[in-house]
Amino acid sequence: MEMRAISGKKPPPYTRASESACRAKRAAGTAVTDFFSQYQVERGRIVSGSITARDLLPQPHLEPRVTPFSALHDTWQFSRLVHAMLRQGEPPIRTIIDLGAGSSIPTIYALLCTEGCHVRVQAIDTDEAALGVSRSNVEASGLSDRYEFIHAEMIAWLSTQSLERYTGVVANPPYLPVPSGTTDPRYAPVDGGEDGTKYLAHILQHPMPIGTYLALEWCSLSHPERVIALIEQGFDVVHVQANDIDRGIYTEDPHLKPHLLRQHKRGEAALIINEDGSLGWTFIGTVLRKR
Ligand SMILES: C[S@@+](CC[C@H](N)C(=O)[O-])C[C@H]1O[C@@H](n2cnc3c(N)ncnc32)[C@H](O)[C@@H]1O
Repeated sequence: MEMRAISGKKPPPYTRASESACRAKRAAGTAVTDFFSQYQVERGRIVSGSITARDLLPQPHLEPRVTPFSALHDTWQFSRLVHAMLRQGEPPIRTIIDLGAGSSIPTIYALLCTEGCHVRVQAIDTDEAALGVSRSNVEASGLSDRYEFIHAEMIAWLSTQSLERYTGVVANPPYLPVPSGTTDPRYAPVDGGEDGTKYLAHILQHPMPIGTYLALEWCSLSHPERVIALIEQGFDVVHVQANDIDRGIYTEDPHLKPHLLRQHKRGEAALIINEDGSLGWTFIGTVLRKR
């Protein structure tokens, strides 16, 4: 795994999904299953609670700060996805646009893990506190001259941009289905609207030059059928990674759980339903190239 090459540090816990776990997934949602069957998917399983902030950066002396949004599994999976995008970029990516940058750990990880990388990053987030955390992580990593921090709403900002060639757009946007009318700010960093596609759909439909790379994080709950259709309309799929988490903090949340079960019943979400009734889901990371 990438981390080992840089630091000799033990990689975060990651186990190959067993055949039975894959079978459970097949039962969990056909859109997801069909999508996975078409591509070489890097499969795995995340053990709840096993990833710490120190696992997220490849250099032992760095002490990353995390944002109040602290779903570390998600950040870890997305870090590996951004790294996969940089490895794939041909011709090499010159600029990364990070929509919903949060702590910026994923782009820092990817830059530090990619040899000879001179990429510049525009980090966009609507949360000023998150941008503060981002700034301090970037400074601690010695990358300040490569970053620009932009306090903006991602879709409004994106709609003013015409993207240049050799850009890599990366996004781990809010993608969980959240019941409409939810006002509790705790859900803001993950609120992808009723079906989870509020941001995903905008990003996938934004005009991009042919060849633009898009590293997009989503999940088995964010209306996979719709997301897959949008992917297939405009992009070639370059890389897919999927990690199951048996017991997610959000799937067990009493406010979200009934809504997620309804979405699952409608076929607009694919939950992992464990024998004890607890719920899990699959993180899905895709590196896409605009056709
Ligand atoms: C799921 S977190 C991902 C954070 C980080 N990229 C990571 O992978 O760890 C989503 C981030 O998007 C930000 N965000 C939420 N809605 C946003 C919006 N409309 N515009 C810009 N940023 C937004 C949140 O503040 C949060 O930092």
